Formats: sequence, C-alpha cells, structure tokens
Amino acid sequence: MNIPNHVAIILDGNGRWAKSKGMPRNYGHVRGAQNLEVICEDAYNMGIRYLTVYLFSTENWKRSPEEVDALMKLFRKYTKTCIKTARDNNMKVRVLGDPSALAPDLQESLKKLVESSKDNTGLNFQIAINYGSRDEIVRAIRKAAQDCVDGKLRPEEITEECFSGYLDTAEVPDPDLLIRTSGELRLSNYLLWQLAYTEFYFTDVPWPAFNKEELMKAIEKYNERDRRYGGLKA
Ligand code: IPE
Ligand code: IPE
Ligand code: MG
Repeated sequence: MNIPNHVAIILDGNGRWAKSKGMPRNYGHVRGAQNLEVICEDAYNMGIRYLTVYLFSTENWKRSPEEVDALMKLFRKYTKTCIKTARDNNMKVRVLGDPSALAPDLQESLKKLVESSKDNTGLNFQIAINYGSRDEIVRAIRKAAQDCVDGKLRPEEITEECFSGYLDTAEVPDPDLLIRTSGELRLSNYLLWQLAYTEFYFTDVPWPAFNKEELMKAIEKYNERDRRYGGLKA
C-alpha cells in the first residue's frame, strides 16, 4: 500500500452529526476535537508524515456569536492539550492562517505550541485556524511586494517556488490526498494553491464518526488512482 506523505482534511459535519443525535452543535465540536487527537495518532502510525486540518475558516466568523465563542473556547482547550500531546508524541505543529484576529491569549498559546514543538521529528501537524486560502495568497503577495520595495527581491525572481515560500505552508510539501467529510463537494477556501495536483476523496461520514477504518478506505481509494501531473501514464 502506498501511504500518502501528506494528507489534508476538511473536517466537516460536526453540527449535523450532533443534530442527528439530538444534541447541540457544540457537542459535535467537542467530539470532533477529541476525534482529531485520535486520528493524529492513527495517521502517524500508518506512516503519514504530514497532516493538515481545517479548524476555522476566515468565513466561519459569520456564524452566530455563541457558536464562534464556543469554538474559540474549544480551541483554547485544544491548544493546551496539544502542547502535551505534541511533546508526548514527538509532533511538530505549525499554524496556518492569520492569528491576528484571535484573542491575545489564544495567540500566545498557539505561539507556545509552535515554539515548544519545533524540534520534534515525528508527525508534521498543521492546524489551519482563521485560515482562508485567498487571504493567505494576498498576505503572501504583500510580503513579496514589500521585499521588492525593500530591495530584497526582484520581480523577475518571483517563481512558483519562490512564491510558495511566502505562503503559510512554506517548508510543507503539497498534499497528496485531500479528504472532506460529511458530503459537501467543495473546497471552502482551503489550500487553493497547494491542492493543484492533489487527489480528492469525499465521504458522507461526518467528522466525529470518521475513524481509522474510514481513513484506511480513503487511502485505499487513493491507491487506485493514477497520478499524472499533466504527463502520460508511466
Ligand atoms: C466543521 O463542522 C467544523 C467547523 C467548521 C468549525 P460544521 O460546524 O461545519 O458542521 P456542519 O457542517 O454544520 O454539520
Ligand atoms: C469548512 O467547513 C471550514 C472548516 C472545516 C473549518 P464549513 O462548514 O465552514 O464550510 P461551508 O460553509 O459548508 O462551505
Ligand atoms: Mg460545515
């Protein structure tokens, strides 16, 4: 079995899963966060080296203030737990997205998480929080433009590779497999640049019910694909 080096996940369906159990949406988010910890370990044990998950989009601020608040509380708790998990499981954590809109204490915890795990050599775990791909690209363009103004970069030096280095995913290889749970067939502003040649897998299973067996199914499907990158089949 060919195990993808980098798996990106849009973990969707927490709300619908909770509703189907007659529970409030937030219960789904809590169970979704617990599931993420389990899947992280499973992914690493299967041989996946990079795992990138979408926790909160730049568009998710449009949800009710109560839900946004509950999610932020959950991220605070999750970030603290993750500091321990990263230490115990040798995980290197990176944060994608613009942290500046998050509460100062959450920004601090995220910084601590990244800093304390930076020398770890196990799973590379990227969490996308207040992340939007268009926002990421615009921020990257601004940084590159500023470097041009400062005389550190010439416009003709901006290649695909150079531009990738300005994105939040600098140093992270492109995903091999994208998984979206819970039935929606769209990208919702996730990793638009990085997914150029990624294989897509969509499942109706909602995120809190997505387990190791479901991950294995996705990898099996991935193995049935012929990856071509624009060329002919080898
Ligand atoms: C995914 O679950 C988690 C976040 C976007 C934070 P949803 O909250 O989107 O759940 P559904 O899609 O409404 O069921
Ligand atoms: C995408 O899920 C964002 C995250 C999983 C964090 P959404 O549930 O917010 O996406 P839409 O609104 O259905 O496109
Ligand atoms: Mg959703």
